[in-house]
Amino acid sequence: MTPRAADGLDAVAPVEPPPGGAFRVEPLAGRSPIRLSVVIPTFNEAKNIAEIVRRLTELLDAPLGSAYELIVVDDDSPDRTWEAAQALTRHYPHLRVIRRTGERGLSTAVIRGWQAARGEVIAVIDADLQHPPEVTLGLWEEVSRGADLAVASRHVEGGGVSDWSAFRRILSRGAQLIGLFLLPGVVGRVSDPMSGYFMVRRAAIEGVAMNPLGYKILIEVLGRGKIRWIAEVPYVFRERVEGESKVTWRLYIEYLRHLVRLRLSRLPIDRFVRFATVGSSGVVVDMGLLYLLSDPHTLAWGLTRSKLVAAEAAIMNNFWWNDAWTFRDVAKDQTGPRPRLVRFAKFQLVCLSGLILNTVLLNVQFNYLGMNRYIANAIAIAIVTGYNFWLIVKLSWRATVVTPPGAH
Ligand code: GDD
Ligand code: MN
Repeated sequence: MTPRAADGLDAVAPVEPPPGGAFRVEPLAGRSPIRLSVVIPTFNEAKNIAEIVRRLTELLDAPLGSAYELIVVDDDSPDRTWEAAQALTRHYPHLRVIRRTGERGLSTAVIRGWQAARGEVIAVIDADLQHPPEVTLGLWEEVSRGADLAVASRHVEGGGVSDWSAFRRILSRGAQLIGLFLLPGVVGRVSDPMSGYFMVRRAAIEGVAMNPLGYKILIEVLGRGKIRWIAEVPYVFRERVEGESKVTWRLYIEYLRHLVRLRLSRLPIDRFVRFATVGSSGVVVDMGLLYLLSDPHTLAWGLTRSKLVAAEAAIMNNFWWNDAWTFRDVAKDQTGPRPRLVRFAKFQLVCLSGLILNTVLLNVQFNYLGMNRYIANAIAIAIVTGYNFWLIVKLSWRATVVTPPGAH
């Protein structure tokens, strides 16, 4: 018999990674008595684990009684944090311990914990006491008032860092700026997107496929979750007393890769492919009509007159296909002849402005940059296709039409 078995530590049987890449938090099967689940990711935090568990328990007992749980997710730490945590469960029945093997990383550890969580609200806090435990109460208060997400922030009034060097501050803010540049609609929603201390309503991330990389799980939640109401609670990032940080340069690279991955996953690539396909069909219509109308063997109209008719026919063709296919989901929410006519008018305008842009680009490249005219034209067409798509998404088929209740 191993000493582990004698200690009753079999409950911390290693958890193997599940097959497949994405991580999903599934809806709860039935009604749960747990309202809040706090995940504490650990790697070599044996010296901190007892203290963080004690402090959180002391704080949360008052507002929640037995309606909460703490979940330690340890990545098989060499200092046997998992063992220390499991030993604590005797005094803390609301504490659960997961020991992961074959998988490492803060973000995925957090999601693993959430997957095991039974609360309708789920949270994360560092184990090393750099996140002041008492702020948990402020986060809980905000979620109780209705927030979908409550973030502990260093960058709101009352928040800060203890005594970071200028270099570390610049690094942290620089990372935030890059995030703002790549994902303004995600990173810009909170003042401290780097925070690893927050609470989120389970419903906001239920069933959502998450695929984080590195440390910054909050960005994944903001980028993929269904989050409307966000609250921020100030906190001061404390200095570490026990153990050491696991931050390495590799994590900065992983952060950048995470941003790019999220950026790409948020691009409407499928839609763009459909849009470009429709555009190609328009070229066929344009060419065919130009031949039928202007060719000496057919109708032999003047070139300008033929081109105008051909181009307009192509625009109408493209509108029809885009309405019926590319933007079908959006169009079906705005039925009737009038909205359709409005969409068509805007489409027409965008195409016209695209044509002007196309001509200007072609001229600049050909006349001023001395480029080959066909290469210049191909580049101009590619740019204008992107421009048209972007404008059309914004103007013609707006995916975000807000109809106030009762109004039509
Ligand atoms: N399970 C698991 N696996 N836990 C990990 C891993 C891992 O691979 N790496 C780190 N942790 C745990 C640590 O044990 C600690 O509890 C917490 O994650 C934070 O790790 P630190 O190494 O202490 O990070 P930090 O002090 O630089 O904090 C930074 O990241 C936080 C994210 O939680 C800062 O950016 C904080 O603002 C941020 O909140
Ligand atoms: Mn830390």
